[in-house]
Amino acid sequence: MTYSRIVGTGSYLPPRIVTNDELAQRLETNDAWIRERTGIAQRHIADESQGSSDLALEASRRALEAAGVHANEIDLIVLATSTPDYVFPSTACLLQAKLGVKNCPAFDIQAVCSGFVYGLATADSFIRSGAYRRALVIGAEVFSRIMDWNDRSTCVLFGDGAGAVVLAAADTPGIHASVLHADGSYADILSVPGNICGGRIIGSPFLQMQGSQVFKFAVKVLDEVAREALAAAGMTIAEVDWLIAHQANARILEATAKRLGLPAERLVVTVSRHGNTSAASVPLALDEWVRAGHIRPGQRVLMEGVGGGFTWGAVLATL
Ligand code: ACO
Repeated sequence: MTYSRIVGTGSYLPPRIVTNDELAQRLETNDAWIRERTGIAQRHIADESQGSSDLALEASRRALEAAGVHANEIDLIVLATSTPDYVFPSTACLLQAKLGVKNCPAFDIQAVCSGFVYGLATADSFIRSGAYRRALVIGAEVFSRIMDWNDRSTCVLFGDGAGAVVLAAADTPGIHASVLHADGSYADILSVPGNICGGRIIGSPFLQMQGSQVFKFAVKVLDEVAREALAAAGMTIAEVDWLIAHQANARILEATAKRLGLPAERLVVTVSRHGNTSAASVPLALDEWVRAGHIRPGQRVLMEGVGGGFTWGAVLATL
């Protein structure tokens, strides 16, 4: 039996930090409101020269180095993003070229803030099937590009960044279980409802959100899908060392941990420093906690995503 295992993690944040106070200088908002409602204190913003593939490249190099794997040994690239460099080719193909790799399949996954969990579950299936042995799975976003910076109800929430893992074939799990869901009837509560047609933008190029509905939906499904993943693996929450749920809002994370009966000290929270980096949020948090020595080899991590679509999912893994 072949399983897959995370053998290296990496991440990258663009250097420019934008604090709540900086936003408050040009928007009717303030640090106290943002911190109290979201837990966010700052976010990183890419400069105009950096696309998702550039952020992904840095995160991938660090994950490859941590894994002790050369880019040429990767035989599958799965990149999750909702802010691709181009309409096409995919950001995964652009990343492949930047890594100097040839002859491996590379494709994007578009599942918004669940993208990394979708990507991990996809790569795990490919590896368990025997099709590939070493996959690079990345979440990379420049959400700052799809913000209306005059809309205080959305622009304070998001940031840019990338996270990556190397997933390799193994004799023991590794990934114990993954569960994915989608319900397109909720498309309207979180969207960028625009497209390019004949050289013009039709609709809106900016993120729109019904905040309180998103909040309630996220807390409900993060609880449900965590329980599904645990049941699929035949485990209980007591056997989980760390919960890394999509870093959208500290209150969503705390409510999820409470519903699951997970002690607060086992909840990973990075949203305060990164904001919501969509598909990048889970691998970024994972890499930070691994590099800080909080997550140790052999520990069990429950990763969860929820985002536009709506999409949601969970992956339970031993590192
Ligand atoms: N600064 C100051 N005031 C603000 C701001 C701001 N940045 N944004 C909104 N307000 C005001 C509103 O205008 C409103 O004023 P009013 O009462 O005069 O009309 C007041 O604050 C309350 O607004 P609400 O939207 O009711 O505030 P709420 O308590 O619901 O918090 C928030 C809003 C933080 C967006 C919350 O709904 C939330 O966290 N939702 C989840 C959304 C989320 O995390 N999205 C991320 C993407 S989804 C995902 O990743 C799963």
